[in-house]
Amino acid sequence: MDIRSVGVVGAGQMGNGIAHVMALAGYEVLLNDLDKETLDAALERIARNMDRQVRGGKVSEQDKEAALARIKTTLELTDLGRCDLIIEAATEREEIKQKIFDTLLPHLKPETILTSNTSSISITRLASRTDRPERFMGFHFMNPVPVMQLVELIRGIATDEATFQACKAVVDRLGKTAASAEDFPAFIVNRILMPMINEAVYTLYEGVGSVQSIDQSMKLGANHPMGPLELADFIGLDTCLAIMNVLHDGLADTKYRPCPLLTKYVEAGWLGRKTKRGFYDYRGETPVPTR
Ligand code: CAA
Repeated sequence: MDIRSVGVVGAGQMGNGIAHVMALAGYEVLLNDLDKETLDAALERIARNMDRQVRGGKVSEQDKEAALARIKTTLELTDLGRCDLIIEAATEREEIKQKIFDTLLPHLKPETILTSNTSSISITRLASRTDRPERFMGFHFMNPVPVMQLVELIRGIATDEATFQACKAVVDRLGKTAASAEDFPAFIVNRILMPMINEAVYTLYEGVGSVQSIDQSMKLGANHPMGPLELADFIGLDTCLAIMNVLHDGLADTKYRPCPLLTKYVEAGWLGRKTKRGFYDYRGETPVPTR
């Protein structure tokens, strides 16, 4: 199937990054969210992030302008029905994703491929509640989307080969690399990454190290670009906790139990960068550890 237009549901951290890379690759993009402020903020962020790429010599000013012109926004979710490919990138809550698919389904073209950027929810289960489980799959980007090279493609039990190949062709056109993952809790990247982050929080909880020493150890001792606590703040502590819960529930192994300190930060509403406080406080000039 020839994919020309991409509908993106959700203009948050992941949704705006997905719209960004799709538009740069030449796709017509229709970006949807619940309120105009979020959509305006997303367009501003996309322009700012493209400027960084222009400054770095990765994108020309002309290509940036052409890409921005390819992004349209809408408050009406059902407008996305005319797109060839839909990527749902809403909040990581199954009931919200479910509602989005229920609303979209009557408006889709028969051949539209429906995908979710979920980082951990069962693709097979999401697909089974649609009218097109064979044309449904996981399309999982990494944050920051314009920089990270990988996209995980996750087949549900019913996903057909044509759908997989069509999505793989989109990833190729983005200039990114697709990793094929089976549909088990948290797929590949988060199955490995989140227990590491959770272990870093246990290391803090048990007083083995401070926020600073834990992050510094992993940066200088394991060559990670960000320390695990800094990375958790970057991803969002609510997202980290949600993924740990999916691993814990889905694999029924106590090794995935979320650290109580992670739960406490989420209960406090200290969700990381997006709320300006997490393992670091981002309200000043430079981030300050909160423990
Ligand atoms: N858009 C466009 N360009 C961006 C960007 C963005 N959002 N963010 C960074 N860049 C560019 C910068 O402009 C810079 O470009 P130049 O090399 O041309 O100057 C380059 O990327 C590097 O950025 P910085 O110099 O600002 O900072 P850095 O070298 O510290 O890199 C980082 C920043 C790429 C985020 C790096 O710290 C990193 O790789 N961190 C780890 C990220 C990671 O692990 N992501 C995966 C999270 S897990 C996930 O996403 C899955 C999930 O479901 C939770």
